[in-house]
Parts: sequence; C-alpha cells; structure tokens
Amino acid sequence: MKKMISVSILAANFLELGKDIEMLNKSEADWIHIDVMDGVFVPNFSFGMQITKRISGISKKPLDVHLMINDPHKYLKSFKDAGASLITVHFEARNDTQENIREIKSFGLKAGVVISPETSVIAFEKFIPDVDVFMLMSVHPGFGGQRFIERTYDKIKELKCLISSKSSNALIEVDGGVDLSNAKKLADAGADILVAGNSIFSSPDPVEYISELKEAIG
Ligand code: DX5
Ligand code: ZN
Repeated sequence: MKKMISVSILAANFLELGKDIEMLNKSEADWIHIDVMDGVFVPNFSFGMQITKRISGISKKPLDVHLMINDPHKYLKSFKDAGASLITVHFEARNDTQENIREIKSFGLKAGVVISPETSVIAFEKFIPDVDVFMLMSVHPGFGGQRFIERTYDKIKELKCLISSKSSNALIEVDGGVDLSNAKKLADAGADILVAGNSIFSSPDPVEYISELKEAIG
C-alpha cells in the first residue's frame, strides 16, 4: 500500500480556514487531520464538531479525527455525523477503549487507537483484531510545532513486529514533528501514514512541500 500524508490543520490559518482546505484539496495530501482538544485531557483547546462539519462540507479528502479528549464515547456519534472517516481515540483517555472502537466500527468508520509518548506499544496488543490504524504520538499531545521525539523510530519497529505477529493489516500512523528531514526514515521504519502540520503550513509553498513529503516516503 502507498504511504500517506495526513495534514494537520492545527497549523492552518484559522481566519482563512476555507482557503487552506481548498489548497489541500488541490494538493497530494491523502487525509486532513483534525486535532480535537478539550482542555482537560490536554492543556489546550482547538476545535470541535461544528468546525469539523464545515470542513467536511468542502473537503475532497477524508477526515482523520484525532480526539485528545477524556470522554470520547460521548462525542463519537457527533463526529461521525460531522463527516469523520477515521476516528482515533487515546488509550490514556478515561473511558473504555475497546468500547470506543466497537462503537466507531458500528458506524462503518475506520477506528484508530493512539498512545502518548510515555505509553508502551504493548498497550495496543489487545486491540489488534479490531483496529484499522495504530497511531504513535511523536510529540506530547496538545500542541503543534514541537520537536520530534527520536525514540519513536524504535516504537514503530516494535509496533510493526507486533502487528505482523498477529497477521493484522492495521496501518501505523505517526503524529507530530514530521518534516522532510525525518519523513523517509519514518516510512522506512514502517510508518504508513505521517501527520504533518507546521512543516507544511510554515513552508513558502505548502502544496509543493506536500509533494516533496509524498515523494520522500515513496
Ligand atoms: C499534537 C497534534 C498533532 C500536531 C502535529 O497534539 O496531535 O497532530 O498538530 O503538528 P506538527 O506537525 O506541527 O507537530
Ligand atoms: Zn494529532
């Protein structure tokens, strides 16, 4: 399967969000990554289902919704209705991950589980039969523009072994601090989807930067 880029709009210009989505529509981006924060699970706020729904109305790319919230089960249906294609919940969130996965799948959506940098990969093991995407945070959740955590490469390799040992087709997504300096190495280590925000939006030509990322990961 071709490796993919999911663009985090946390780094977009919120006053011109529509223009940025149109720009991504014309780019080689595979997904649009939407970071939802509740000010409790992470010390920051971002956006919720209303903005997600408006984005879904104009986006030609599927929406990859990353819930950094403590009680995802309360909002899964709302994000489904808002147009999510993939919903990813944190293993560290307060409620039952297995139950969240079951509900996301019952909507006919792709289900993802994500771990923060301090959580070990083995936490994913029991979810392998049911999950489409396992995501590794390569920065601390809550903010864009942080420095990439180097230990992520080892976690990708460990996760790849774990997934293969269970004959699963689950994809590996890596979120945070991704740019042209590490994208190829991440793909070579086994990542299937790379999330990038600041590196894309701070470049002079985001469409070109996305093309270069895609070329780097092959
Ligand atoms: C961090 C978010 C990431 C972030 C990635 O809490 O989950 O998705 O927006 O942005 P960059 O690429 O700027 O690290
Ligand atoms: Zn994210």
